[in-house]
Formats: sequence, C-alpha cells, structure tokens
Amino acid sequence: MINLILFGPPGSGKGTQAAKLVEKYSLLHISTGDLFRYEMGNDTPLGLEAKSYIEKGELVPDSVTVGMLRNKVESNMEVKGYIFDGFPRTIPQAEALGKLLAEKGTAVSKLIMLDVEDNELVKRLLERGKTSGRKDDADESIIRNRIEVYKDETSPVYDFYAAKDKAVKVNGIGSIDEIFARLCAEIDAL
Ligand code: C5P
Ligand code: MG
Repeated sequence: MINLILFGPPGSGKGTQAAKLVEKYSLLHISTGDLFRYEMGNDTPLGLEAKSYIEKGELVPDSVTVGMLRNKVESNMEVKGYIFDGFPRTIPQAEALGKLLAEKGTAVSKLIMLDVEDNELVKRLLERGKTSGRKDDADESIIRNRIEVYKDETSPVYDFYAAKDKAVKVNGIGSIDEIFARLCAEIDAL
C-alpha cells in the first residue's frame, strides 16, 4: 500500500492536490475536514460537537477525530492506499494513525508538506470564503487563529515524521499543475 499524508497549513492546497492525486494513483482520499462538514450538514451528534470547535478555528478533540478516522479507514479496507488530508493534526493523532495502520499490517509511506507563507494563505482563504460557504473561511481573525493553531499544535507532526526520515517539503506556490508535478515526483521516488 501507499499511504500518504498531505500536510500543510490551511489554504496550502491539500484538498485541491489530493483530488488530482487520487485519480492518478487510485488511492482513497480521506479529508477529516470534509468528514466533519458532512456530519455538520446532517446535524448529527458528532457534527454538532465538531461545529463548536470548527467555527472558532480550533481543533476538535483528538478522541473524536481519531474515532471518526478509524471508522472511515475500517469501512474502506479494500483500497490500494490512502491519502490523508488534514489528518494527523497533532502528535497523538499521528501516534493513533501509526497504530491503526500497523494493525492493518501497513504504515505511513511519506508525509508531503505544501510550503506556503502566511499572507498568501490568508489571501487564498478569504478568496475561497466568498464561495465555500465555510464560516471559518469568511473571517480573517478565525483564519489567523487556524494558522496559529497549525504552528503550535500541528507543525510538530512534521518533525515526528522527519525523525523517521518520512517527511518532505515541496514548494506550494505556483500553478496547480506545477505543484502537482512536484508532488508526483516525490511519490514516484517511493
Ligand atoms: O482540514 P480542514 O481545513 O478542512 O479542517 C477544517 C477544520 O476542521 C479545522 O480548522 C479544525 O477545526 C477541524 N479539524 C480538526 N482536526 C482535524 C481536521 C480538521 O479539528 N484533524
Ligand atoms: Mg481541505
């Protein structure tokens, strides 16, 4: 199996690139943010719990996120591999993912980080907010909080995989196709 983590701050292009990568490599795209938004749209108990965090740009507690991710993986076992988008966002989530994949006899192949500077992220997210319908994209102070949460809680996840020689950064500035080619070069090197 090929199990990729598409990593990077909010607005770095993870979802856009994941959609292209799943086509080329026949992997299953798992976006925990999309799963939360689906639950929120259906007003499920999980969605209602997640909403109180997401609308402030905070992280949903690890136990909730990990449980949801586990369900998604366990109901999709017959795949060639996974692209995790927006997960793991904390060290405990990274540890839980390692454990889950080990139970299935597999492991994370590589974490690829899309590197984009803060002002560009804010610009992209405000632009996306005009059409995404996402409250967390519509307000600059919530966007800046998401970027702070990324720096404080999520960026250590990069070092966690770097210590295992499994993390790489690619330049996340350029056209969608240019960035896609950079990602493919990293995957083809596996
Ligand atoms: O990944 P995405 O940016 O779509 O996630 C949207 C929001 O969902 C995050 O800002 C956060 O509030 C929540 N989330 C989370 N933990 C994750 C993924 C998403 O708390 N692992
Ligand atoms: Mg996304």
